[in-house]
Amino acid sequence: MTKSTQKLITLDGMRRDALETLIDSAVRFLAPGTTTEHRNRLAGEAVALLFCEPSTRTRVSFELAARRLGADVAALNENISSRTKGETLSDTLATLAAMDVRVVIVRHAEDGIMTRLAAKLAPGMALVCAGEGTRNHPTQGLLDVMTIRRHRPNLSNLSVAIIGDIAHSRVARSTARALDTLGVGELRLVGPPAFLPRDNEMPGRPINNFENGIRNADVVIALRIQHERMNGNECPDLETYRHEFGLNASRLETLAGKETLLMHPGPVNWGVELDPDLHGWPNNLINEQVHNGVAMRMAVLDWLV
Ligand code: CP
Repeated sequence: MTKSTQKLITLDGMRRDALETLIDSAVRFLAPGTTTEHRNRLAGEAVALLFCEPSTRTRVSFELAARRLGADVAALNENISSRTKGETLSDTLATLAAMDVRVVIVRHAEDGIMTRLAAKLAPGMALVCAGEGTRNHPTQGLLDVMTIRRHRPNLSNLSVAIIGDIAHSRVARSTARALDTLGVGELRLVGPPAFLPRDNEMPGRPINNFENGIRNADVVIALRIQHERMNGNECPDLETYRHEFGLNASRLETLAGKETLLMHPGPVNWGVELDPDLHGWPNNLINEQVHNGVAMRMAVLDWLV
């Protein structure tokens, strides 16, 4: 996050104290009564949502966060916006700036686009990345570490396993970066070779064996297979993948233990990366992640504006 230029596009390079400030702020937004107290923080400010890829959690939670802080919210529908008539994204930003939009929240499939858009921001306008290609999903990384810390405050004692299609996952990159900056004890990146990241491209130790990857993990973060970011033959056979790397309650309890926190950024493909029997896992935090997402996005908007 760079406050001088008012943008949050990546957690790479973000300092530990900045991450902790945002997490502490988000936790305060969770407390009953703060929504009322902060109702006018963004009063008179306009926030625009520009999602060029599908979303449920991120889009709705940013909209709720902005409204709970008193902002006016304009949600563009990519399919009926002037983008369908050839308008470039930078022209769309300039158009929003001309209407005094203060914050624009963008999701886009193209790696690197946020940096290019940030270079074209009108003075006083803030840009927030709501998911960029395979590289960045900073608010998801923040809400993930916030969720872990509420259950296990001392990250330096924890072993965290991220399992699944890490190669194509912006969530894995942002969450791994946040965990690393906050001093997590051990970070494992677990999946078949085709789903593991290139050497040293992100924090964490790649492990291509399911049992070794999950054994004694305190936190397991599962990911879906991101078919939309793959070409042709990249995806393994789904049944083979489910058999070798799918999680179920019995495997999780036997290898990691009943206390293990289970997380997933969503959407979940039940029956592939997670067996439906994990709905009942005692430390299933998937809905809590979504809940915390609103508070974290309130913290980010409050900080930027
Ligand atoms: N975790 C996440 O980004 O979910 P959505 O695609 O529903 O926003």
